[in-house]
Amino acid sequence: MRSEFEHEGRLISYLDLNASAAANASGHGQRGTVLLLHAFPLAAEMWEPQLASVPTGWRFIAPDLRGFGGSAADTGAQWRQPSARTALSVDDYARDALALLDHLHIADAVVCGLSMGGYAAFALARLAPARVRGLVLAATRPDADDAATRANRERMLDTLAREGVPAVADAMVPRLLGRTSHDSRSTLVGRVRQLARAQAPEAVGAAIVRLMRRPDSTPTLDAFKRPVLVVAGEEDEIAGPDVGRMMHGQLAGAELALIAGAGHLCNLEQPDEFNAALDRFLATRFIHP
Ligand code: MLT
Repeated sequence: MRSEFEHEGRLISYLDLNASAAANASGHGQRGTVLLLHAFPLAAEMWEPQLASVPTGWRFIAPDLRGFGGSAADTGAQWRQPSARTALSVDDYARDALALLDHLHIADAVVCGLSMGGYAAFALARLAPARVRGLVLAATRPDADDAATRANRERMLDTLAREGVPAVADAMVPRLLGRTSHDSRSTLVGRVRQLARAQAPEAVGAAIVRLMRRPDSTPTLDAFKRPVLVVAGEEDEIAGPDVGRMMHGQLAGAELALIAGAGHLCNLEQPDEFNAALDRFLATRFIHP
């Protein structure tokens, strides 16, 4: 079910699924909530395979991050003016996610972020650690951009300003999906391209700036003492198995799931394997509500 609410004069849109809604008059998952934070440059729909398979007792909520999907963009176009870019931070996504939890009267959630969603999950763990019951860090990395990546993002901003979102989407899609998907899943490739091309230029431009300005989250990860599941697609060239193993090695007691036949968008490319890893994590690490 898609819903929306207003926060600080902006609309925040989200998908909200509760596997036990009929059995639970309050509409809240008795076992807990999973907050799903999407990748760049996509929207909450990328979590459809997870929203279609919510484990019993859990509630899955997937917001459209600021400007993406049905959520309103920032007012102003700071991404177009280098001097105004300091107004944009990945913390904005985390604050909107916290506003969503407040709106729904949810005290805490297991936060599952994929790539850019993972950067937002780190920001949430830094800003409001008590509201993060656990982390699922999928196809993401704790470190900030290096100089080469920042230069690439500057080029992406130029492409966006000159040619619009379709050009950025077309440049991203080959990297978002793995070899197996490109070779054998043309419907999925088309769906991801369509979802990326449908996003608003204000969302995409502001996100690129937020990505390049994000801080190093290694200290946040080191300080986080609750359950963590790290997930990586074996064919991911953006944040693949090496990055996953590195994060896993940094975290005592964390779990690692490497997904074969998947690239960056491992939740969409191999949904059964992704869901199995997530379900196992939720069932074994969150026994008490
Ligand atoms: C994403 O999938 O969210 C992006 O690849 C993140 C990034 O470029 O760092």
